[in-house]
Amino acid sequence: MNDQAESLRRLMDNKNGMCDTKVISVISGKGGVGKSNFSINFSLGLSRAGFRVLLFDLDIGMANVDILMGMTSKYNIVDMIENELTIWDIIEKGPGNVSFISGGSGFSQLFKLSERKLERFVTQLETLKQHYDYIIFDMGAGISEDSLQFILSGNEAIMVTTPEPTSITDAYAMLKYINNQVITIKCSLIVNRTETEKEGKVTGENFQRVVKQFLQKEITYLGSIPNDNTVKKAVRSQLPFLLLDPKAKSSRAVELIVQEFIGEQREQKSNSDFNLFVQRIKSFFSLK
Ligand SMILES: Nc1ncnc2c1ncn2[C@@H]1O[C@H](COP(=O)(O)OP(=O)(O)OP(=O)(O)O)[C@@H](O)[C@H]1O
Ligand SMILES: [Mg+2]
Repeated sequence: MNDQAESLRRLMDNKNGMCDTKVISVISGKGGVGKSNFSINFSLGLSRAGFRVLLFDLDIGMANVDILMGMTSKYNIVDMIENELTIWDIIEKGPGNVSFISGGSGFSQLFKLSERKLERFVTQLETLKQHYDYIIFDMGAGISEDSLQFILSGNEAIMVTTPEPTSITDAYAMLKYINNQVITIKCSLIVNRTETEKEGKVTGENFQRVVKQFLQKEITYLGSIPNDNTVKKAVRSQLPFLLLDPKAKSSRAVELIVQEFIGEQREQKSNSDFNLFVQRIKSFFSLK
């Protein structure tokens, strides 16, 4: 599998001159549906497939990616902003060669920062260009003023829902809100905690249909992850489930999602543009 991914990457490198960085936000309407666990294991899967991945905990103030990965981060995003560290000072190497940035706590809104601090924050983000194939943002649930800017600035969003009506309704409401903004982005869907694969597929297809009919938007169904005790064990062991038990049904499901995602990326053939991401973030925060 690694060989295949490596050759895919070389292909992308050749096509674009150099492989650009793609920014993907993992989002949900309702909280606690499995975004962080998905983000971590998806990042790990992409890394195993040969991509350079940076997992960025953007659930600022309520960050928990480091805990789920069993790491104690020396620094976090708050330290970078408040103590003038560079972004490279706060990047840690997690399990499975996934780089990550911890969100930290005691901080609520980027929007409330002074212009100088915001400018520095964006300048630091800018230096990530081409050092990674994918930057994955693990967002908090729902939408805040800050998170909307990051979601819309990125290349894609992956919506996580469970099959429960409350979770689906919240996912739909969030997508509708995102879709009402001036900028549109590609969205995909993951159904987590399913009883059967069929339940995931049916939930995905229904969601796709409603989104198409009422929002005139196509959403890609990337697959489902079963309800699996391994996930709970992994959380308690502070180890990604892909590492705790690679043969568990949740791990196999994430591997399939990674393959589906890579296939989708290949079909898109679009040039990602990290400069555009930076430009959008700047304009959202009214920076020059
Ligand atoms: N596939 C699964 N099977 C069983 N349990 C799961 C699964 N996915 C998630 N869980 C349970 O749900 C809990 C919440 O997951 P997670 O922290 O990833 O959600 P989240 O969407 O990031 O939450 P928040 O909105 O608070 O950021 C986990 O601690 C785990 O117990
Ligand atoms: Mg989370």
